[in-house]
Amino acid sequence: MSHTDWEARYQSGDMPWEKGAPSPGLVDFLAEHRDLTGETVCVPGCGTGHDAREWAQADFSVYGYDLAPSAIRLSIERTRAAGLHAEFQLVDFLREEPPFQFDWIFEHTLYCAIYPGERKQYVQAVRRWLKPGGRYLAVNYLIPDHDGPPFGTTREELIERFAPHFSLLSEWVPRSYPNRTGLELMIWWRKI
Ligand SMILES: C[S@@+](CC[C@H](N)C(=O)[O-])C[C@H]1O[C@@H](n2cnc3c(N)ncnc32)[C@H](O)[C@@H]1O
Repeated sequence: MSHTDWEARYQSGDMPWEKGAPSPGLVDFLAEHRDLTGETVCVPGCGTGHDAREWAQADFSVYGYDLAPSAIRLSIERTRAAGLHAEFQLVDFLREEPPFQFDWIFEHTLYCAIYPGERKQYVQAVRRWLKPGGRYLAVNYLIPDHDGPPFGTTREELIERFAPHFSLLSEWVPRSYPNRTGLELMIWWRKI
């Protein structure tokens, strides 16, 4: 199976994931946890940076990564235009080494974007990029699709993959973009 050419999708404007706004579940999470601030957060597969900017607005030290050059360019431009600060870099999250281990990783439609055969590598990457005791916050997309991206998953699969390495702090069905209502599950983990 050939891999998705993400840069080509940005260049042709074929970006159905691009909602022009951060994940509603993340917005609510940060609003409810105003005590959490000042720590480092890694946003892999950051797209055009909406979620990264939401973390920046909550005073986190934010690092957004993506393997599509257009995503990084748009993230930098839009973050500057918003008067916010975040670092953005061209990185393959699954294959590269972190610059340091983060306090937080925030996942939003990266797990469902990669090929299911790469999920083991994804879990290893989250472990590698996160410091011991670090928190992994995921907006999981629970759809049945096998012919993605997006590729579906289930709560059971996520628990099986992550529970050996992370303790589950909390899980809930978040507020979502209109076309994803009821299809998302947020899971908040702490690296063991
Ligand atoms: C479906 S989009 C989601 C973008 C963003 N999270 C959002 O929700 O708007 C998936 C993003 O992950 C990026 N991506 C795919 N594989 C990646 C990898 N191995 N490392 C870093 N970014 C990756 C793509 O370029 C794309 O921007």
